[in-house]
Order: sequence, then structure tokens, then C-alpha cells
Amino acid sequence: MDLIKSRHSIRKYTDQQIERADLEKILEAGNFAPNAGGGQRSMMVAIHNAELAKKIGIMNMASFNRAGLLGAYVSKDQPSVIDDPTIKNGFYGAPTVVAIFAQSNFMFRIADAFCIAENMVLQATELGIASCIISRAEVTFSSEEGQRMLKEWNVPENYTCQCFVILGYIDGEQPATKPRKPGRIKIVE
Ligand SMILES: Cc1cc2nc3c(=O)[nH]c(=O)nc-3n(C[C@H](O)[C@H](O)[C@H](O)COP(=O)(O)O)c2cc1C
Repeated sequence: MDLIKSRHSIRKYTDQQIERADLEKILEAGNFAPNAGGGQRSMMVAIHNAELAKKIGIMNMASFNRAGLLGAYVSKDQPSVIDDPTIKNGFYGAPTVVAIFAQSNFMFRIADAFCIAENMVLQATELGIASCIISRAEVTFSSEEGQRMLKEWNVPENYTCQCFVILGYIDGEQPATKPRKPGRIKIVE
């Protein structure tokens, strides 16, 4: 419970790269996530390269259509740098990113991918590594260059990116745990 409550979405990173051994542990956590039907269909591609992570982060933000948000903000309750239209890198300078792919025609592809993402961010928190789940995944790779990357990484053609997990070290203070809205839990006996 302490781990769950101390995880925060971090949007400012130092240049320090994470150790490969830590990345492998985080990927292993993702690999052991619950998955629909026990099919283990999803796959992860880890970019342990700050320059390439930045490049994909810029592709990610370029595809951001703010008109798709419900209102002007990602969250009115939690004003965030993601609402800053001058931010160009959707990965906020994190030196590592894991792209999570799933079979495009599988009905539980999104659920599978986000179960992986949650396992990964919790494992990262335990290791003292900052993280954030990032969306707008499929469209990030829709350009010719994006498609070329997927080929280079041997992502099967019937797979699409569902989300990203960015990883690195926090630049600044840990945010406070946000209070929870009331009325979101009911127990029926
Ligand atoms: C489905 C989903 C998509 C998200 N997409 C983004 C994103 O694209 N960019 C971002 O900065 N944060 C993204 N987040 C992180 C949320 O904004 C964050 O979890 C929320 O503001 C609560 O803050 P906390 O994670 O620090 O508790 C996403 C989270 C989820 C679950």
C-alpha cells in the first residue's frame, strides 16, 4: 500500500539514465502482469537510449490533438505541465521509454497493455525510479518514420502501440499524494 501511494506521474526528469539491470526488472514486472485469457499477447519494446526516447517523445506530442480532451485540461483538478502547449516532448525528457504493443484486433488489447504499464510503474517506484504512463500511442508511430521504427524492432504487422511507460530520475521534489474524490467506493454486503 505504501508503494501504491508513493507512486506519482512524473513530468520532469534529470539526464541520468537508469541502469539496464533496473530496466530489466521493470520489464519483468510488466511481463508478469495479468493478461486476458492468459494469452500473453502483448509485447514491450524498451528504448534505453535518451536520444531516441526524445525523438519518439516529440513524435508523440506532435500527434496530440487537444480537441480530444474533455474540456481544456487533462484534469481541471490537477493542473499539469501536460496542459502546457509549449511542451514539445511528450516524454518530458525521460531517458528511457517502454512502448507496449498488443494485437490490433484483440478485444482486450488496451486492458492488457495498461495492466503491464501499472505493474511496471509500481516496480519502478520500488526501485526509486520515476515514471509516467503516456497515451496517444498508436498515432505516435503513424508516420513513415514511425512505421520504419516498428519494422526495425520486429514488431509484427498486426500489432499496435497501446501506451508508453517513461522512466528516469525525478528533477525536483516528489509531488504530494493527491486527495481522493469521495464517493468512489461502495461495499455491498
Ligand atoms: C490511461 C492513461 C493515460 C495517460 N496518459 C498520459 C499522458 O499521455 N501524458 C501524461 O503526462 N500523463 C498521462 N497519464 C497519467 C495521468 O495523467 C496521471 O496518472 C493522473 O494525473 C494522476 O496522477 P498520478 O499518476 O500522479 O497519481 C495517463 C494515465 C492513464 C491511466
